[in-house]
Amino acid sequence: MEKQNPELKDRFPKSVGIIMDGNGRWAKKRNLPRSAGHSEGLTAAKRIVRAASDAGVECLTLYTFSTENWKRAQDEVGFLFALVKKHLRGEYDFYKENNIRIRHIGDLSALPTDLQSEIQEAEKDTDSFTGMTVVLAINYGGRNEICRATKKLVASGLEITEEGIFKALDLPREIDFIIRTGGEKRLSNFLLYQAAYAELFFCDTLWPDYSEEEFLNSLSDFASRNRRFGDAQ
Ligand code: IPE
Ligand code: IPE
Ligand code: MG
Repeated sequence: MEKQNPELKDRFPKSVGIIMDGNGRWAKKRNLPRSAGHSEGLTAAKRIVRAASDAGVECLTLYTFSTENWKRAQDEVGFLFALVKKHLRGEYDFYKENNIRIRHIGDLSALPTDLQSEIQEAEKDTDSFTGMTVVLAINYGGRNEICRATKKLVASGLEITEEGIFKALDLPREIDFIIRTGGEKRLSNFLLYQAAYAELFFCDTLWPDYSEEEFLNSLSDFASRNRRFGDAQ
């Protein structure tokens, strides 16, 4: 892989979210079941996690299962959960070698209990790692998150402020950059509050085909943008 110019790397985003879309279409093109697309999607996720860590990203949020994805066939949902569970159980060494901490966002309570415990174990086991944080958004929806955060605030009797809601979110962190693969140009309920000023990047590549090179090119694109946050030039 080409060496990145160090000054460019300084301008890379620190907090990145990825909508990993296109697994089903990848499989369909090959006459394979959708599950094959999800398995290949996991391989892509691992290579992009490594690339993000090398690129100095501090926090990488991966949209893994949305609050709307329950509409899919039970088989597909079950397969996805089993895949995540197996990955978390089997890949401790991968996270350790790369010094990566795992965090979950979304409504954990509605997930199968065995998956809940696997996620909690992975968070605990990687808690002392000091490199990049990988945030797994599983049973995550931006509206659901904002709703739960607001309920927490109301229950605590605190005043409802923008900052207060932000701090009560599952992920109280600004998102600099959102990448969506698979050709659709929408957020699909991802990080709605945190992405208020995120830069967006859409590409047609189906997630299982997404390469380190394409990822680095998108980070370079981010590095060339002028973020104004409402200010004048
Ligand atoms: C993204 O790929 C993965 C999940 C939503 C879990 P899709 O499964 O949505 O793939 P397409 O969009 O049908 O190709
Ligand atoms: C978004 O993809 C959710 C994930 C990648 C986990 P979808 O495939 O569910 O989004 P829509 O339905 O095309 O908006
Ligand atoms: Mg999709």
